[in-house]
Parts: sequence; structure tokens; C-alpha cells
Amino acid sequence: MRLLPFFCYFGGKWRAARKYPTPQHDTIVEAFAGGAGYALNYSDRKVVLHEVDPTVYQLWDYLIHVSPAEILALPSAVAHVDD
Ligand SMILES: C[S@@+](CC[C@H](N)C(=O)[O-])C[C@H]1O[C@@H](n2cnc3c(N)ncnc32)[C@H](O)[C@@H]1O
Repeated sequence: MRLLPFFCYFGGKWRAARKYPTPQHDTIVEAFAGGAGYALNYSDRKVVLHEVDPTVYQLWDYLIHVSPAEILALPSAVAHVDD
């Protein structure tokens, strides 16, 4: 399943990832996570993100562990993503 980006990141590969080879294994390791643009194209796989920036790391840690109810309670905003 292809998820939309949770946030934009300079150098993100979300759009370009569709031109990359399909993963050959069940686990995807995105070594320079950023916005995890490649892994978001294959959210049905097991994904391991490696990130050195504490802010980006904490953002992913929040997104991975937050409850659906808390996400749905966040203020909404209009987002547009060109596909
Ligand atoms: C260009 S972004 C990655 C974009 C991402 N692959 C995407 O498609 O959205 C590069 C990321 O790698 C992280 N990074 C840089 N050096 C790293 C390292 N040694 N280990 C892990 N992450 C690193 C940066 O903090 C940044 O978030």
C-alpha cells in the first residue's frame, strides 16, 4: 500500500521511488530516513528507519506510536500532494 508523505523533506524520494526497483525482501531498511519516501511506497512491508537527526527521529517515533484517536484529534490542515 502506498501512503502519502507525512511531511516533506529536501531530497525526499517519494515520487521517484516508483521508478526504483520493487523491494526484493519483506523488510525495507531506509538508511537515511528523512521522510521515508521509499518505504512509504511499500507500507505493507516491515520497515526499519535509521535517522541521525534527533528532531526527525522524534517525529517518526511519535508517528509510529501515536494512537489513531490522537492523530484524528490534531487540528486539520489542507494538504495537497502532486502525484
Ligand atoms: C535526503 S534525506 C532522506 C530522504 C528520504 N530517503 C526520503 O525519501 O524522504 C537524508 C536524511 O538522512 C539523515 N542522515 C544523514 N546522515 C545520517 C546517518 N549517518 N545515519 C542516519 N541518518 C542520516 C538526515 O538527517 C536526513 O534526514
